[in-house]
Amino acid sequence: MKRKLIAGNWKMNGSAAANEALVRELTGGMAGAACTVAVCVPAPYLAQVGALRAGSPLELGAQDVSEHAEGAFTGEVSAAMLREFGVRYVIVGHSERRQYHHETDAVVADKTKAALAAGITPIVCVGETLAQREAGRTVDIVKRQMAAVIHTNGHCISEIVVAYEPVWAIGTGRTATPEQAQEVHAVLRTQLKAASEHADRIRLLYGGSMNAANAADLLAQPDIDGGLVGGASLKAADFLRIIAAAR
Ligand code: 13P
Repeated sequence: MKRKLIAGNWKMNGSAAANEALVRELTGGMAGAACTVAVCVPAPYLAQVGALRAGSPLELGAQDVSEHAEGAFTGEVSAAMLREFGVRYVIVGHSERRQYHHETDAVVADKTKAALAAGITPIVCVGETLAQREAGRTVDIVKRQMAAVIHTNGHCISEIVVAYEPVWAIGTGRTATPEQAQEVHAVLRTQLKAASEHADRIRLLYGGSMNAANAADLLAQPDIDGGLVGGASLKAADFLRIIAAAR
């Protein structure tokens, strides 16, 4: 059995004071966790959270990375820079970045490659909108998004983490049922297996209104290997309950 991964995506939330309280509660409460736990924090807080988590099993993650190695790209952060701050995971291709920052499948694939080249595990997000689901296009959409990443990353594909995040479930309180999520996860697993003989070890996370109440049922599905948690990762008690459900 793969060790599950529970990753918190703080999005653009936090402050120096709030981060300190949250990370102290998490590191104090996660002793004996059966899963790997990470928090993906806003870039300016990487150093702070990195210091707060030192000596604990809480892993540090970022929310985005440039596809470029260095140079005249104002506002961007490279994978090598993230690496210097002890970042182990980086979210790539979150639907909010695809939507608000117009990231294409090709850009997401290049960002995945940049992270892998720096030794950082990319958490590659895929997922359909409500309109796409209602039009019966879910499988086509997630397979297209995944195919671009597979194409660009070749045999390294077994080193990534994938997060299936249906856009209609993000921040809406409307969670995919465990069966709906498993169905898409199974499609992704089959696609990844066709690309790599090591695809069984790729962790497929579910994201979208995962909370303390629904986590156990989602995580019990055969192809759900963890969660990418937004809102509930900002409350230590809720996040700790999700962590406890991942075994
Ligand atoms: P919520 O858990 O707030 O729905 O967010 C999910 C998400 O987008 C994680 O990346």
